[in-house]
Amino acid sequence: MAGEARKVGVVGLGAMGAGIAQLCVEAGVETIGREVTAELGERARDRIAGFLARKVEKGQLDARERDAALARLSLTTEVADLADCDLVIEAIVEELDAKQRLFAELERVCRPDAVLATNTSALSVTEIASAISTPERVVGMHFFNPAPLMPLVEIIRAERTADDAFETAYAFGERLGKHPIRCHDTPGFVVNRVLIPLLNDCVRVLDEARVSVEDLDAGMKHGAGWPMGPCELIDLIGLDVHVHASEALWAKLREPRMAPPPRLVAMANAGLLGRKTGRGFYRYES
Ligand SMILES: NC(=O)c1ccc[n+]([C@@H]2O[C@H](COP(=O)([O-])OP(=O)(O)OC[C@H]3O[C@@H](n4cnc5c(N)ncnc54)[C@H](O)[C@@H]3O)[C@@H](O)[C@H]2O)c1
Repeated sequence: MAGEARKVGVVGLGAMGAGIAQLCVEAGVETIGREVTAELGERARDRIAGFLARKVEKGQLDARERDAALARLSLTTEVADLADCDLVIEAIVEELDAKQRLFAELERVCRPDAVLATNTSALSVTEIASAISTPERVVGMHFFNPAPLMPLVEIIRAERTADDAFETAYAFGERLGKHPIRCHDTPGFVVNRVLIPLLNDCVRVLDEARVSVEDLDAGMKHGAGWPMGPCELIDLIGLDVHVHASEALWAKLREPRMAPPPRLVAMANAGLLGRKTGRGFYRYES
């Protein structure tokens, strides 16, 4: 197992998978993206082409590099087409059953030395790996949203991850220009384990201290040196995504701070999801 990943598969080309595929092709890696329908795959390729076009406009990429990057991306709807990948990164829906089914399929079609990575945020990498008979090749690669812009990737060692699979994933994170950090498979891994209860505390303080959203954000920016306020950050993450991750941590750790504050649940249920719906704590022009 291991070594350098020369050909990479990305399964699921939604918000995260498309960003990860973009990083791969920009890093010069031949990449095959798998979606459930050809149309979803094409849509993801169009989004990637749009982001690269904007980089060309801004002078961050030249047009030939853009064309070469796009030429490295191929699309499929067949898992069997991932047979010759050195590394497959899964970024499908956040459901244990779906991920376990996919990993079982990947185990059947991929070479025995291929490394299988999951981008799960809140599921256990060990549980995903338990669906296959070669769990030593499964590792977590947790990118942050938006993947092309956020520098961090958490490389997660599950109970039975082999050292060489782990190091392949770590080296690939570096190859993508990311800052990888090493950790073990625990709920929330590193950043979400710290950030989610912290953001929940911030929201609770809105009610306790009867501080306004704007003043809370100003407080954390100017008093704690945060680059953006907690309410701005929750709007950026998406209230639905935050509530979901919070519920997952609460279910696993049972610490009251992990539970999503009722105010956030109510906002999420009302469709006030933040930037993506034009309104969360703040209003956004589309
Ligand atoms: N959105 C975030 O902020 C974020 C951050 C880090 C990690 N994650 C994790 O990344 C994963 C994907 O999240 P997302 O936000 O990109 O979701 P998304 O809903 O935007 O994308 C998921 C995509 O996977 C596709 N898909 C579903 N089943 C598939 C299958 N069997 N094969 C191929 N494609 C399949 C769907 O058609 C969809 O396009 C989840 O595990 C999530 O927890 C999300």
